[in-house]
Amino acid sequence: MSDVGSNSGLRFMLDSAFGPHLEAICHRTAQALAASGFGALLVHSGSPVPIFEDDQPHAFQVNAAFKVWVPLSDLPDSFIYFVPGSRPLLLFHSPPDYWHKPAALPHAYWTRHFDIIPVADREAARKALPVMAAATAYVGDVFPELASWGVTAVNSPELKRRLDFVRATKTPYELICLREASRLGALGHEAAARAFQAGASEFEIELAFLRACGLREQELPYNPIIALNEGGAVLHYQVLETQSPPQRHSLLIDAGAEFAGYASDITRTYSHRDSDFAALIRSMDAMQQTLCGGIHAGVDWRDAHLRAHHLAATVLRDADITSCSPEEAVATGVSSVFLPHGLGHLLGLQVHDVGGLMQSAEGGDIPRPPGHPYLRLTRVLQEGFVVTMEPGIYFNAQLLNAAKGDARGARINWPRVDFFRPFGGIRIEDNLAVTAGGCENLTRDAFHGLRPGFNRVA
Ligand code: GLY
Ligand code: MN
Ligand code: MN
Repeated sequence: MSDVGSNSGLRFMLDSAFGPHLEAICHRTAQALAASGFGALLVHSGSPVPIFEDDQPHAFQVNAAFKVWVPLSDLPDSFIYFVPGSRPLLLFHSPPDYWHKPAALPHAYWTRHFDIIPVADREAARKALPVMAAATAYVGDVFPELASWGVTAVNSPELKRRLDFVRATKTPYELICLREASRLGALGHEAAARAFQAGASEFEIELAFLRACGLREQELPYNPIIALNEGGAVLHYQVLETQSPPQRHSLLIDAGAEFAGYASDITRTYSHRDSDFAALIRSMDAMQQTLCGGIHAGVDWRDAHLRAHHLAATVLRDADITSCSPEEAVATGVSSVFLPHGLGHLLGLQVHDVGGLMQSAEGGDIPRPPGHPYLRLTRVLQEGFVVTMEPGIYFNAQLLNAAKGDARGARINWPRVDFFRPFGGIRIEDNLAVTAGGCENLTRDAFHGLRPGFNRVA
């Protein structure tokens, strides 16, 4: 995790905000437990998953339900035990181990709010737990001996639903962490853009990003998407070519940083030289900013998504890529050939945070609009929600070939599409904290903070 020791202003803010944050988490959890019929919560951070017939585990990914409590992303086999009205207990995995460096007991801005007991292993954790008198709900991976621990329920869907639903609304502490994750992400993006202009390969661009963020790849909230040229047409492009292509057209980089367990999720697209593609990026940036300008508490995200389709269809027609009206492009599915994903999602402890489709804490999902199967968020925005705003336009061969074979093909200007194919696609993604009357753009503010006036995307 990033070191806050060198930044006394940030450390002070975290120190002041953590106590009220934990009170809010305790309050939410007490309500969810009571409504689900439980008296206590036991959360596991997770165990390393062994690789088949190997003596190494897969990279450890912490259980987000554990990270809600403590900013520890790399600590397996630890537990939080919470009984409403009492201080939360952290059973901190600290094994005797001369092969690895055991985690030191933490002394940080959050530790004074917990009772912390070091435990050597799960058996020691079980012994360190108080007698579980109340009906205890367990949340986490199931391990073999859990059956003998005396918990009342394992991963109760009702309890998890109630806990997930409220995670959409961030506390002031969480907003501090998300701003810092954005700042680190913006540092990485600036370095990546410089590496692109200097002729770096995809792999070298990733190295520039990591170095500037000060994070290892496994500490990022997701594997960066770093696509030169036509690779930008692949939504979650996962290759990192080590060779720079002979001709450079474009870079699409979707990469975020993590701070204290909270993620940023940022995408920028660059054209190598001024061209129609650079003009298309500028149009998409203006369109993305129009969409950001329409975000405030009370907006139904499904409406924002459908509005994005109309605006993208206008950009496509104005760039002579399609030949029909925006209304017709949306009605006939032509806009979805170029914009095949959702407009955005909840962001927080997980990059695609939980609860995006939930109707209420009690149950039910809000359906996606027909024809938009990949939308990850259908809720009405509330103050404190943090969402991504990520419209895109892609020249993806698979989607274009399908459209060519049906009625959509006649509405597409194919020579113009062929011109844009080598550039791949455009996505511009910012992270927005919703307020009563608008939103705070965490991403643009972060770029601006690095270099006042810096807000360009192309
Ligand atoms: N980075 C994945 C996404 O934007 O949803
Ligand atoms: Mn995203
Ligand atoms: Mn992204």
